[in-house]
Amino acid sequence: MSIEVRPFGKTTSGQQVHSYTLYLPNGVFCTLLSYGASLQRLLVPDRSGVLQDVVLGYDDLAAYEKAANPYHGAVVGRFANRIEAASFELDGRTYELAANDGPNHLHGGQVGLNRVVWQADPFLAKEGPAVRFYYHSPDLEEGYPGNLDIKVTYTLAEPSALRIDYEAVSDKKTILSLTNHSYFNLRGQGSGSITGHELQIEADSYTPIDTAGIPTGQIEAVAGTAFDFRQPRQIGAQIDKTANGYDHNFVLRGQAGRLQTCARVFETKSGRTMEVMTTMPGLQFYSGNFMEPDTGKEGAHYDYRNGFCLETQHFPNSPRLDQFPSPVLLPGQIYSQASAYIFGSRG
Ligand code: GLA
Repeated sequence: MSIEVRPFGKTTSGQQVHSYTLYLPNGVFCTLLSYGASLQRLLVPDRSGVLQDVVLGYDDLAAYEKAANPYHGAVVGRFANRIEAASFELDGRTYELAANDGPNHLHGGQVGLNRVVWQADPFLAKEGPAVRFYYHSPDLEEGYPGNLDIKVTYTLAEPSALRIDYEAVSDKKTILSLTNHSYFNLRGQGSGSITGHELQIEADSYTPIDTAGIPTGQIEAVAGTAFDFRQPRQIGAQIDKTANGYDHNFVLRGQAGRLQTCARVFETKSGRTMEVMTTMPGLQFYSGNFMEPDTGKEGAHYDYRNGFCLETQHFPNSPRLDQFPSPVLLPGQIYSQASAYIFGSRG
C-alpha cells in the first residue's frame, strides 16, 4: 500500500490544494483532495475484475470551485442538508444562517466545509492507506456557534472499502451533522442514468418533505409506497410516483451510534455492489434530480440523474424539530461518527 501526494492547484484566493491518492496492492485506489476534503476518484473492480471510477467529480480545481459544482465528493456541513428559515435556536438564542436555498439553509451555507481547504496528514494505518483532514471552524463561521475543531479520516482497506471517520469538538453548545456528498454510478462515472441501479435501504420509515425539501416533522411508514426499499428495488421502478425524484431522509433501523449496514446497491451490467454502513440515525437518498448537463472527469458528460447520493446524516431540519434525534453537540463533548462504503461484485 502507498500514498501519492501531488499539488492540485491553487484556489482563486491563492490557497494551495493537494491531492492524495491511496493505493491498495490489489490495484484499487482512490484520490482525495484537500479542497472540501473531497473524494475525487474511487476505482473498484467489476465482476470481471475491470477497475472503473464509480464516483463523479472533476479533473481540475477550477471546476470544483465553480458555483455549479453540486458538492461532488465533498464533506458537507457544519449541518448537512436543510434547516428551515435558515435559523435555529439554542438555549433561547436564535442563530441566523445563510439562506442559500431559497429561504432555507443548505449544507453549511455560502462557504460550507465543502469550499474550504483542509489541512491534511496522510499516513499508513494498519487497515490501509489513510488521510486525516483537519479544519478549525471559528465561532460563528457561517453563523454557527462554537470554535469547532474537525477531523475527517478516510481509510482505504482491502479488498475495496472506504471508511470515513468524523470527529469534532466545540467550546460552545452547537449543532453538527457532517456527511460525504459523493455521487455514485457503479457502472462507471459518466455512464449515464442511475435509475437502473438496484437499491435496498434498512429503513421502515422516512421523513416526508414539503415542496422546498424541508421535512414536515412527520415520520411515515415506507410500506406500500414508492419509498419502500426494504427489499432491493430499481431506483427507477416507482420514481415517477414521487414529486421530483428521491431526495428524502430515511429513518434507519437499529441503534444510532453503532456502525451498521444502512443500504446496499447492485448494478446489473457491471455486477458491482456497494454496501453502506453508518453510525448516524438518518440516510438521505438523493437520485440526482437537480443535476444539470456538466463535463466531468476525463471529459465525461454528466446529466439529470447520472449519479445517486447516500448521505449519512442527522435528520434534515432536526435543529428545529424536537421529535427528531438531536444534532446538538455540547461543549467539550466529542462528536464521533463513522460511515463506510464497501464494494464487491456478483454474477
Ligand atoms: C442534497 C440535497 C439535494 C441537493 C443536493 C445538492 O443531496 O438533499 O436536495 O440540494 O444536496 O445538489
